[in-house]
Amino acid sequence: MRIAVLAEQAAGERRVAATPETVKKLIALGATVALERGAGTGASIDDAAYAAMGATVSDRAGAIADADILLGVAPPVPDSLAGAKRGAWLVAGLNPFADRARIAGYAVLGVEALAMEWMPRITRAQSMDILSSQANLAGYKAVLDAASEYGRAFPMMMTAAGTISAARVFVMGVGVAGLQAIATARRLGAQVSATDVRSATKEQILSLGAKPIFVEKVAGIEGEGAGGYAGEMSAEYQAAQAELVSGHIAKQDIVITTALIPGRPAPRLITDTQVASMRPGSVIVDLAVEQGGNVEGSVAGEVVQRHGVNIVGHRNVPSRLAADASALFARNLYNFLSAYWDKDAGRPVLPPDDEVTQAIVLTRDGQVVHPRLTD
Ligand code: NAI
Repeated sequence: MRIAVLAEQAAGERRVAATPETVKKLIALGATVALERGAGTGASIDDAAYAAMGATVSDRAGAIADADILLGVAPPVPDSLAGAKRGAWLVAGLNPFADRARIAGYAVLGVEALAMEWMPRITRAQSMDILSSQANLAGYKAVLDAASEYGRAFPMMMTAAGTISAARVFVMGVGVAGLQAIATARRLGAQVSATDVRSATKEQILSLGAKPIFVEKVAGIEGEGAGGYAGEMSAEYQAAQAELVSGHIAKQDIVITTALIPGRPAPRLITDTQVASMRPGSVIVDLAVEQGGNVEGSVAGEVVQRHGVNIVGHRNVPSRLAADASALFARNLYNFLSAYWDKDAGRPVLPPDDEVTQAIVLTRDGQVVHPRLTD
């Protein structure tokens, strides 16, 4: 049972899918581990640290050859997996809707592609949930990115030279990233408010010491929504939200947007007119920029200025904290593999009727098999 750790090839991807800690644990389960040379470099882990835990280190072809499981962070190009064994698992974030031809390419290779971001949000799979582990770090980093673009301080400071007032931070979208953004902004001393379409988040916002800003006159999503996720809101709700937000945004110094709808473009939450209503020097961080953006005018991979407001659109924010993001991502993968490890078989086995299996297996026996991709 051989597990290969791939070096990431996507531009700007600094994370790695295994750490020396998880390599040690995988070997303890009975696997052998082959690391593609330099796989950990972006996350400040050198090959020797993996070798010290028992991994062999080789070039990509050497790591892939004979591997039963290939571990990655971002979706590899199918051609880059040439030589993989038929039936080998590819365990990674695969962004399945982004490029269906790529998923079909895995099928042609005969690889069994497992999309870790489609892990169901059930209690037993929480420790395997890459979306949560990475979003949490992204929420934290978004606030730091805002702070570094902002020409003022976050906390209120009373000094001999006079008083500085606290920054006002507004978080839009209170899922995993948004909750961490609220907590981080609070720790920095900002005055924080937040909004979401799911009413269940109101309590969470309050419990973090922030102020909930909610549309009251039109129904939002009661409870958690399907699978914990939001859906697209009615035109009436969107209009009420826009009106509420317009009044609030003009008084904010920092806005962090994190709103996503699974399988859909990100909802547009801030218009150019609303950006113009903010005072010059304000900062907006659009964490949804790669899914189409919550903010009109945000540009993926850039910090742009509109009406004197800096709009931050960094790509792949978790990769900006590559060491911690890798540590958590690697544990998510280890938790998945170990939960399904069959001691007799000496490898992980996915029961066909299991909720996790049905959610994450995209390709099998040369076919794309996932209903979300075949319907
Ligand atoms: P997400 O990344 O899909 O979306 C981020 C946030 O944006 C969500 O809170 C969503 O309601 C909000 N949003 C969507 N449209 C909006 C709009 N028009 N205006 C304002 N906000 C909007 O969500 P994420 O972070 O993945 O978490 C979603 C939920 O799943 C949370 O309740 C979380 O606690 C839950 N969850 C459950 C897990 C489990 O039980 N295993 C694991 C992780 C999360």
